[in-house]
Amino acid sequence: MYGEKTDFDKIDLTKEPPEAEPERQYYFIRLLQEWAKEKKEELGRPLYANITTFGCQMNARDSEKILGIMQMIGYEETDSEEADFLLYNTCTVRENANLKVYGRLGQLKKQKEKNPDMVIALCGCMMQEKEVVEKIEKSYRNVDLIFGTHNIFKLAELLSIKLLDQRAKRKMLVDIWEGTTEIVEDLPNERKYFFKGGVNIMFGCNNFCSYCIVPYVRGRERSREPEDIIAEIECMVQDGVVEVMLLGQNVNSYGKNLKQPITFAQLLRRVEQIEGLERIRFMTSHPKDLSDELIEVMGNSKKICHHMHLPLQSGSSRLLEVMNRHYTKEDYLLLVEKLRKAVPDIALTTDIIVGFPGETKEDFEETLDMVRKAEYDSAFTFLYSKRTGTPAAAMEDQIPEEVAKERFDRLLKEVQKISAQKAQERTKTVHTVLAEEVNQQDSSLLTGRSSQNYLVHFPGSKEQIGTFVKVRLEECKGFYYLGQVEE
Ligand code: 5AD
Ligand code: SF4
Repeated sequence: MYGEKTDFDKIDLTKEPPEAEPERQYYFIRLLQEWAKEKKEELGRPLYANITTFGCQMNARDSEKILGIMQMIGYEETDSEEADFLLYNTCTVRENANLKVYGRLGQLKKQKEKNPDMVIALCGCMMQEKEVVEKIEKSYRNVDLIFGTHNIFKLAELLSIKLLDQRAKRKMLVDIWEGTTEIVEDLPNERKYFFKGGVNIMFGCNNFCSYCIVPYVRGRERSREPEDIIAEIECMVQDGVVEVMLLGQNVNSYGKNLKQPITFAQLLRRVEQIEGLERIRFMTSHPKDLSDELIEVMGNSKKICHHMHLPLQSGSSRLLEVMNRHYTKEDYLLLVEKLRKAVPDIALTTDIIVGFPGETKEDFEETLDMVRKAEYDSAFTFLYSKRTGTPAAAMEDQIPEEVAKERFDRLLKEVQKISAQKAQERTKTVHTVLAEEVNQQDSSLLTGRSSQNYLVHFPGSKEQIGTFVKVRLEECKGFYYLGQVEE
């Protein structure tokens, strides 16, 4: 990647920063490298960065990129919130995610008193909401820097204003972009694991499901050029990556808005040809855009993992229409059937919302029925959360909390019952597991994932991390399996 090959010594800091990206950002990284060197000498210790990520895989990937920029500047990552740079990468999909951030911000006062030079920064979806930023400006004066989901790539520039401009030091710096079609390539590209990594293939969402705030905060759908995606993955593979996760809010509509449109299935075919790459995952799939072509590619592939995360949201066709989902219960079941035919041992997971406005007893029963029919390996269940600005927030018939909670508990029980049955069926089967880390509770065990994305704990040692191990699933322990290595 550009970042790794950049010859920072050639960047001339006596000149004005370049206009073009990403060169402009490398200029500011270079500037901050100088600052960091001096600062570390002055303090007699390293500079530390602490990043907390809320929400989805997209945020996790953004946090990796942010860490990449911080490390390039000269910061070291720390688990402790007693850091020189502290960032919350926020989520706003449900309200309790917002409440968590306010709670954490309230607790940072002491830390800041101890280290007044500490930079407290906020980014992510929550920051794209005007009311949130207003509230922080008014009530959380400790915060130094706020940026949004569209200008993460500008972090070094924003940080250099904050750290190097004396007047800016005392003020909260807020830089939120309403929306952009720009995708800046070749920025620093850090990964948490050396053997696997996420790759954004698109940004934003055009679907406007009536409960969802994502299209408002992440903007319109933008796909990256396939050549850029392939080049990034090839680079990762050269670096030792064997598994990639292609990321987008709705990967099935990838490529529609490119000058030379291509389908997601076509992209997968190209990714599959990359030598050395062993496994391909993707998320999230929208049922309305899941094509026969994709199912066929999955059926014929040796690299695409046998897992599909296919959010259902509700089992009631009536409610699905109000949710603006563009499929019926029957359409969904047909997809499940086709997927199971093409990939018989595919694991299916989903997202379900309970208590959507107007949800009747009958609608809810249909959701329970779908959980039984689709036989999910696992499901993320959510209580409907009212998000200001979405059509559902203005709907009549909001469901009382007690009713929604009672339904939620029933749904959870059903989901758990079916998952347990599925797990029972899977025990004694043998799976190829990618060893990911040493188990935190028991260091004689490794933790890894099968093609179906099952979490498996099995005996092993840390030298095996990043390699594939054949493991027999012996026992399901709830959300993970205990396994034995097959010789
Ligand atoms: N309330 C509850 N759950 C929601 N989700 C999205 N918006 C809401 C909301 N307002 C859930 C959906 C989506 C998942 C990421 O979050 O199920 O698939
Ligand atoms: Fe939200 Fe629907 Fe887009 Fe998913 S597809 S991010 S639920 S609007």
